[in-house]
Amino acid sequence: MTISVPAQSAASSPAGGTTAQLEVSGVDKVYQARRGEVHALSHVDLTIGRGEFISLVGRSGCGKTTLLRILAGLLPPSSGTVTADGESIWRGGKRNDQAFEHFGLVFQDANLFPWYTVADNIALPLKLRGVGKKARRARAAELCELVGLPGFENAYPRELSGGMRQRAAIARALSYDPTILLMDEPFGALDALTRDKMNLELQSIHAQAGATVVFVTHSINEAVFLADRVVLLTPRPGRIRSITPVPLARPRSLETETSAEFQEIVRVLRHELDEG
Ligand SMILES: Nc1ncnc2c1ncn2[C@@H]1O[C@H](COP(=O)(O)OP(=O)(O)OP(=O)(O)O)[C@@H](O)[C@H]1O
Ligand SMILES: [Mg+2]
Repeated sequence: MTISVPAQSAASSPAGGTTAQLEVSGVDKVYQARRGEVHALSHVDLTIGRGEFISLVGRSGCGKTTLLRILAGLLPPSSGTVTADGESIWRGGKRNDQAFEHFGLVFQDANLFPWYTVADNIALPLKLRGVGKKARRARAAELCELVGLPGFENAYPRELSGGMRQRAAIARALSYDPTILLMDEPFGALDALTRDKMNLELQSIHAQAGATVVFVTHSINEAVFLADRVVLLTPRPGRIRSITPVPLARPRSLETETSAEFQEIVRVLRHELDEG
């Protein structure tokens, strides 16, 4: 069974013939560090479809966070272009703020404000967009329900477990209906059981919200479980080594991971990761 395809083939286009929402073209990133230049990314080309779930994997230091930060508008590429819905998100090294209105970000650390309640943390992006208090409350309650935190609206972050804080961070990212959700190892610090639960929840959130997701992880299992396609980067400088479609039916359950098809995809990806 051939399940992995070279990066330059047609599989760098979205799966299932969906329309492109994010387009990365010829992206290079060179950091100017004190000890010299660090070539983090080299000629990355990737087209991501609307509503598609992409997992991004590769060895530590291969440029995953760098690519996500470029997509998120937090870091300009050294060369190449990134477009969201056909709009360039970087223009001559300057961020095009308009293009980011529909982006949601979740990082490894939940980054909640300790002096705000869960509801106020979740609704903060709405407050910054001038949404009134009543509408913010209603939306926060709805999102608490969606991410499995009902009744915790008035709790403070210190009263939550790590998994609950990550759920609140996901709710915050979803508060203004992002069409693109960028997630950098959001479940990296969680125990295996909580992580399984979060993966199931993220799958249903993705199905309900219909957002396009780019998800960075070190876990090949997690990457395959969640993704429509898994993008594997080579060691630094990160290039796309392979793009692997995951044609497993949805919704997926934890039993999916025991299927021969799932395990074969994981096996091939592990092998590629080992080879570098
Ligand atoms: N601000 C920076 N200045 C200089 N070099 C940097 C900077 N940020 C990252 N790098 C370098 O760029 C390379 C890619 O880093 P990046 O954080 O993107 O890797 P990563 O794939 O996310 O790794 P990990 O899996 O460990 O999170 C690394 O060699 C890193 O040292
Ligand atoms: Mg990283």
